[in-house]
Amino acid sequence: MGPVVNIQQSEAWNGWEGRLWAENPDRYNGMLDDFNAALFTAAEIDEGHQVLDVGCGTGRTTRLAAELATRGRVAGIDLSAPMLARARADAAGIPNIEFVQGDAQVHPFPEAGFDRAISRGGVMFFADLVAGFANIRRGLRPGGRLAFIGPTAPNPDGDYTRATAALAEFMSGPSPAARGMMSMVDPARIDEVLTEAGFRDITVNRVEAIEVLGEDAAAAAEFICSLGPVQFNLQGLDKSTVDKIRDEVRAGLRRYETPQGVQVPGTVWLVRATN
Ligand SMILES: C[S@@+](CC[C@H](N)C(=O)[O-])C[C@H]1O[C@@H](n2cnc3c(N)ncnc32)[C@H](O)[C@@H]1O
Repeated sequence: MGPVVNIQQSEAWNGWEGRLWAENPDRYNGMLDDFNAALFTAAEIDEGHQVLDVGCGTGRTTRLAAELATRGRVAGIDLSAPMLARARADAAGIPNIEFVQGDAQVHPFPEAGFDRAISRGGVMFFADLVAGFANIRRGLRPGGRLAFIGPTAPNPDGDYTRATAALAEFMSGPSPAARGMMSMVDPARIDEVLTEAGFRDITVNRVEAIEVLGEDAAAAAEFICSLGPVQFNLQGLDKSTVDKIRDEVRAGLRRYETPQGVQVPGTVWLVRATN
């Protein structure tokens, strides 16, 4: 692994929260996959492009980028050894993919080596956001593009918040891996960070999509209660209290059950910028 300055994040994503993602990629992808189309439309990856996937995790978007950059190459970088192990296993046999364990804030990317940098929720965690994005920009050729999606601020009237209202009083702080996750929920802040990092032509747009949380309300409630940020906040409670919360979440999710699973509308920021 190269140099790491985000040590707390590295420990978190190499610990139990990283293992949760590594062991359950289908569940996390179910939650996020409906946002992929917007991300890849913004990225405009050509068949000859060199692409960097920042915070690639278990590699879903890395593999999708490799299907587009057929004559190019895609590099996924991530802090998490367990998630990268899963990414490498799932990308076995794909010739134009490589994975690197490293801290994207300081990793020595080849200067101007990439045409595109993409990320599905892996760029909000830098302790120094401007330094992180400036480092990614140095890896992009002049005119190269950054496209990423990241979380919006929690919406108290949103479907997810209402469906999981039983959790609210117990969610007192972020889990170790979630620290920094909300660092760029303000579009003005996104613009400020990227401008300071040297990007231009910055656009920030809200995108809505469907998060599939499980095959039925029981499976979705189980998944939600297993998420790192939730599990972390429920850990001190006795079993009967956790069972009651899970039952209430299951009841809240029932109205979102469809033959294609529990489908809850969600939103992200889609950000595009040019070097
Ligand atoms: C919310 S997960 C998203 C994973 C993946 N992009 C996906 O959509 O499934 C965030 C990812 O960012 C990675 N990450 C966080 N900070 C990082 C950093 N400084 N350098 C590289 N990866 C980082 C984490 O290890 C984790 O895999």
